[in-house]
Amino acid sequence: MGHDARMASIGFLGVGTISEAMVRAMAEREGAADALLLSPRSAERSERLANEFAQCERLDSNQAVIDSSDIVVLGMRPQQVDEALSGLRFRDDQVIASLIAGTPPSGIAPLVAPATRICQLIPLPAISLRRGPLVISPPLPEVIEAMEGLGEVVTLDDESLIFTLSCASAFMSTYYEMQNALIDWIAAQGIDEATASRYIRAELDGLAAVGWATPDSDRAGLPLEHQTKGGLNERVRARLLETGWFDDLVGAIDDVYRTARLR
Ligand SMILES: NC(=O)c1ccc[n+]([C@@H]2O[C@H](COP(=O)([O-])OP(=O)(O)OC[C@H]3O[C@@H](n4cnc5c(N)ncnc54)[C@H](OP(=O)(O)O)[C@@H]3O)[C@@H](O)[C@H]2O)c1
Repeated sequence: MGHDARMASIGFLGVGTISEAMVRAMAEREGAADALLLSPRSAERSERLANEFAQCERLDSNQAVIDSSDIVVLGMRPQQVDEALSGLRFRDDQVIASLIAGTPPSGIAPLVAPATRICQLIPLPAISLRRGPLVISPPLPEVIEAMEGLGEVVTLDDESLIFTLSCASAFMSTYYEMQNALIDWIAAQGIDEATASRYIRAELDGLAAVGWATPDSDRAGLPLEHQTKGGLNERVRARLLETGWFDDLVGAIDDVYRTARLR
């Protein structure tokens, strides 16, 4: 295993679904040399990871993970955090990266004192393929470095803005509903489902790739570039614009944002 300059010890307290996805993504990336230390709970999962990856090690206690880590990732569920962290001793030179949804870094601070350098880390499921956005707020350089190669790092200086991005990503299930509706429509016309599925998923993959490769300055022009006057694409988009499809999407996201902020 090649060790490079960025080698660090990254400890995971709570090795559940999302921690496992992160550990796998980190262990499988190019030039990965960080030591990945795992807390003992979810024994079956943490043992499996430790057996699979040379750089992963399952330690005997949560305190042992903290003591050996430069960066401690908090991977418990929100309702487990208070109990999990009580009685543990952190160091003031330690960096904390919290995966815990709904609690900003300022809410984690009292639980990890005397550590003061705390950020929230928000991966989406595509992290398992080392793709998609990875929010880091505030942008702590050690965490940005440790996450290199895991996706597109998006930083926010102000923790109160994290929720805006979380709301904007709340169309993931809708996206796959759309994917599947298109596949079902093709299959209903008599084309076998495997072909339908391969066609639509490859189309969506291509569209996303073009969307990502297009310079931001040309982004606004993409809809018109993907339709011809009087063509099929123009007819579908015009109808969806007319029936308020896009307003509905943004409206649903905005509703979630506003009602949660009123709570
Ligand atoms: N899933 C996602 O896509 C996603 C995305 C972004 C953020 N998040 C956030 O990530 C966090 C984890 O979510 P998850 O879906 O990965 O949950 P999960 O699968 O339930 O994992 C939680 C893990 O924490 C462990 N744990 C609980 N108490 C502990 C303690 N005292 N000491 C050590 N480990 C302890 C659990 O072990 P046991 O199994 O033994 O109880 C389990 O392994 C949540 O706060 C969530 O808000 C999740």
